[in-house]
Amino acid sequence: MQIILLGTAAGGGFPQWNCWCPSCRVARADPQRALPRSQSAAAVSADGERWFLLNASPDIHAQLGRLPRGAPSGVRYAPVEGVVLTDAELDHTLGLVLLREAGFLQVAATEAVREILEHDSCLLRVTSAFAQVRVAELVPGQAAPLGYRDGCPSGLSVTPFLVPAGPPRFAAADRTGHTVGLLLGDEATGGTAVFAPGCGGIDATVLDALGRAELVLFDGTFWSDEELVTLGISDRTARQMDHLPVSGPGGSLERLAALPAVRRVYTHINNTNPMLLEDSPERAEVERHGLRVGADGMRFTL
Ligand code: MLT
Ligand code: MN
Ligand code: ZN
Repeated sequence: MQIILLGTAAGGGFPQWNCWCPSCRVARADPQRALPRSQSAAAVSADGERWFLLNASPDIHAQLGRLPRGAPSGVRYAPVEGVVLTDAELDHTLGLVLLREAGFLQVAATEAVREILEHDSCLLRVTSAFAQVRVAELVPGQAAPLGYRDGCPSGLSVTPFLVPAGPPRFAAADRTGHTVGLLLGDEATGGTAVFAPGCGGIDATVLDALGRAELVLFDGTFWSDEELVTLGISDRTARQMDHLPVSGPGGSLERLAALPAVRRVYTHINNTNPMLLEDSPERAEVERHGLRVGADGMRFTL
C-alpha cells in the first residue's frame, strides 16, 4: 500500500490567501523557510497507479496532476478510482464538485456525511447533476473493502472510527458519524495506517485505532489551544474548534509520541501553526519527539 500526502494545510491553505500572520508572512517572503502547502487530502493505492482519494480538497486539480498514474486507458482518464471522506467540511469536500467531469464517481462516506453533503452543503446534489455518483455507506467500526470502478477488489480496506468533534457549522443536525478517522489496511502486505485529519481528542476509540497502525497521519491544525485567540483571529480555542492542539499537557505530541507506530506525521496544519517554519523551535520539538511535520508530496509504503 502506498500513501501520498497530497495536501497538508488546513482550510485556506498555506500561505492562506488573506492571512498575514507571522508564518504566512515567512511563507510569502522566504518559501524555503516555510514550504507552501495545499489543502488537506491524501491518496492511497495498492498498485501505485490506481488511487483512492482520502478527501477531496478545493486544490484537487493541482493535486491530481501530481498523482503517479499508468498509461491513459482512453480519451478521458484519471488515476482516481474513488473518494473516501472523513467528514463533510468544505476543505475536505469542495473538490467533489470539481470532479463533476468524471462520468462515474465512487464515494465512500458515513450516512451522516452523506446526509450533510446531500441536504446541507448540497455538494453531492450538485455533483450528481453532472456525474453518476455512487455513494457506498461506511459504518463506524466496520471494515469496508475498497473496490475499483470496474468492480474488482483492490485488496485495500477502510475501517472508519468515530473521533471527538462537532459537526460542520452548516450542518442542520449533530448526527453520529459526521466526523471519522480512517484505519486503512492492505490485505496483501498487512500494512496498516490511520488517517485522521480532524480530531478533537484521543479517547479510547481513537487510541485503539492508533494502536493498530504502523503509520499515523494526524490532525496538526493548531500548535496551542490559544493560537487564534492570541493572534486576534478568533475568540475560539483549538479545542472549541474540535482540534486537539499539538503542544501542552494532553496535547497530541505527548499522546502520539507514546504510540507503537513507527511513523507519525502531522497533516491538516493551519497556516498559523509555527511548526510550519522549518527553523522554528516548535518544529524542533516535534522532531525531538520522533514525529514529522507533513509536507505535500510525502510518500509512504506499507
Ligand atoms: C476545520 O478543520 O475545523 C474545518 O475545516 C473548519 C473550516 O475551515 O471550515
Ligand atoms: Mn479543516
Ligand atoms: Zn496565516
